[in-house]
This record gives sequence, structure tokens and C-alpha cells, in this order.
Amino acid sequence: MAKIKQIKAREILDSRGNPTIEATVILSDGSSGVASVPAGASVGTYEAVELRDHDQTRFKGLGVLKAIENIEKIIAPKLLGMEAAKQQEIDKTIIELDGTQNKGRLGANATLSVSMAVSDAAAKSSVLPLFLYLRQFIHKENTQLKIPSLLFNLINGGLHAGNNLNFQEFQIIPATSKPYSEALQSGITIYNSLKEVLKQNNLPLLVGDEGGFGPALSANMEAFALLKQAVASVNLRVGFDVFFGLDAAANHFYRNGQYFIKDKAMPFSSSDLSLYYETLNKEYDLLYIEDPFFEDDWQAWANLITKISHDTIVAGDDLIATNPYRLQMAIDKKTITGIIIKPNQIGTVLEALAVVEVARAAGLKIIVSHRSGETNDSFIADFAVAVSADYVKFGAPVRGERVAKYNRLLAIENQIKIL
Ligand code: PGA
Ligand code: ZN
Repeated sequence: MAKIKQIKAREILDSRGNPTIEATVILSDGSSGVASVPAGASVGTYEAVELRDHDQTRFKGLGVLKAIENIEKIIAPKLLGMEAAKQQEIDKTIIELDGTQNKGRLGANATLSVSMAVSDAAAKSSVLPLFLYLRQFIHKENTQLKIPSLLFNLINGGLHAGNNLNFQEFQIIPATSKPYSEALQSGITIYNSLKEVLKQNNLPLLVGDEGGFGPALSANMEAFALLKQAVASVNLRVGFDVFFGLDAAANHFYRNGQYFIKDKAMPFSSSDLSLYYETLNKEYDLLYIEDPFFEDDWQAWANLITKISHDTIVAGDDLIATNPYRLQMAIDKKTITGIIIKPNQIGTVLEALAVVEVARAAGLKIIVSHRSGETNDSFIADFAVAVSADYVKFGAPVRGERVAKYNRLLAIENQIKIL
């Protein structure tokens, strides 16, 4: 059994040019694991703490040197000598060392990078692909080893594209019956078609943080009209070959009980916004809607569920923040039918896996997600396959840090075929 011999961490850059942590774990048998953590721009209140230096002389205060020091001085000395394959003990030790509810002492960026790098090293040591290694930590009954379906974010808005649109992600979802490589190709085909549609409409081709286009339109609704044109012009059928989805990320257009979106001059109440979503759904048949309301507007969530959940997945991202307490509240209040899983919202690999298990037992759809600030690390693709996620959300099918995940899924697809 290989033991942890060395843990190192360093500051690298993410896709926005902000610092993040890369951790390396070396084992006694010579295997090593490397992992880097992503970062959100649209961060919910209930997420675990991402520790930043706040030293304004470096990277506008976004440096992660303190978190790295926590890895080297606090986490590493405790983990050295432990068996890397005992991920439960590793993560438990990290959680105890932190000792807070939200990783506020060590930083979730510190804790997660080590937790991920240990699992990567242990997978290599046991000569298993990472997705199979991680899969041993889940209950596999009623799950299937397969590539999840895809949610492509083709039009970026909100905080990811300079607030051109209020909603954050306008998505297309290839039919779930398609094999992965075909679904990926549909995503690219529609992405390219959308580029042509934008050109024809004299709209700029600038892109947002997740690689989708970021046109400034006069109403959020118009983004779906563009997507519809893009799908139609490559002879694919909406509602058959491809479906639409939306991450409203409503925290960012909510103020004092009201929602401000550019489609209407007057602010919306929660029930106005609910009606707006119902209209949107009638017109565009949404298969998926994420964070339709503010993270504490529970009643609005519960009401929407009764209206559209028969054919639309209503998923909580900021609402749940991959947090077991928030998840239990959502189950009790019947506010969601799907959950976004982002390991850095909770801070260790096994805590994120545990949230998946509870969500699945409650019948929720599992959507494993990247963050808007990413690196080329493809851990999240292995994690998604390991937990038999229903969907993955990795942004548009372009740009290195997004494509790293899609390409990893292509490799896993091949590995699964020969198992
Ligand atoms: P974030 O956005 O990574 O900036 O939080 C992604 C999302 O809201 O789903
Ligand atoms: Zn979201």
C-alpha cells in the first residue's frame, strides 16, 4: 500500500488569468498525482470559502499564497505517511484540521486541491483510470457506467460576459439518446451555426468566460431566438434532436425582493418571474432550468416546481452549493428536481460524492459542473463518470480549459467500450 511521501503546492493561473492552486502528491511507490482547483465568478453565499490573500499588491488581492502555506504547513505534515488509498481517512483528517463548517480556516481551494491530488496519485498507484478509482467510493446499485449527457452553454451572459444579458447561460442539450461523440459533434455544429447566425445579424462574435458567445441583446428572450435559428439552419429539430436549457443565476439580478431583467422595464416579483419562465417554457420547451430564483427565495422555487417540473428539470446551484444541509432543506421543501455538483463548493472529494448519493436517493438528477474559471485539469470529467451523473456542464465546446474535459470524456468513452 503506497503511503503519502510528499505534498507540494504552487500558484498557477486559471482561464481568467487569476491565481489558483496546483497540488502535487508523491507516494512511496513513486506514483504521483496532480490537481488544480477551479474558481467561480458567480459564487453563492453558501459555498465553502475560497481563501485569497487580499494583498492588493499582487493579482488584485486574488493570490493564493496563504492557502498554499496552509497546505504545506498544516495539511501536509498530518497527511505524510498516511495510505493514499484510504481517501475516507485523508478527507476526514483534512476536514478535522480545518474544523469549520465552510472550510473557513484552511480554504476550500487548499483542502480540495490536496483531496483531488491524493485520489489522482492513489488511482495511478492502483493502475486504475481515475473514474474507475473514484467509482469505488459510490453505491453502484441503480447506476450505470456511461458518459453523462451534455449541457452546452452557447450564449454567456451575466457575470461571465460583462452583464450583456441578465441570465448567465443559454444552453443547448443534445438528445440524451445520442452516444457521447455524436452529442459532442452536435454541440460543435450548433456552435458554428450560431456563429453564422450572429454574423448575419451583425452581432459581434466576442465570447464570454465559458467560451459561449456574449452578444449584447435587448432582451434575454432573444438569445433563445438566436439559438433556435442556429439549430434550424443545420436541419436539427428542437424538441427531438436538441433541447434548450437555462442557468438564470438569479442571485445576480435580485435586489430587495425584486428581480430586474431587461425584458421588462418594471422589476418582477417572484410570481411575475415564475410566469415569465412559464411563458419561456411554452415558447422554447426548456428541458432544464438552473437557479431560476435567488438562493433564499424558497417559496418561489417550490411554486415553480409545481408548474413546470413535469417536463423541465429545475436544478439548484447557488441554492444548494453542494452542501448537505442545504440539500436536505431543498428535499424537505420540494424545491428542486436536479442538483448541480461542484466539488469546490464543499471542499473535499468524498464530501462532494456524499452529496451526490443523498441527491440520487432523493430522485434528483445529478449535474456535475466545471466553474467559469478553469484550468486544463480534467478531474471533473472523471468525477462525473464515476458518480454516474445524468449531465455534465463544461461550458461551450471550445477553448482549451473546456475542451480538456470534453476530450477526457472521449478517452473515457473508449475505455468504457473495452471494459
Ligand atoms: P461560476 O458559474 O463558476 O462562475 O459560479 C457557473 C454556474 O453558475 O453554474
Ligand atoms: Zn449556476
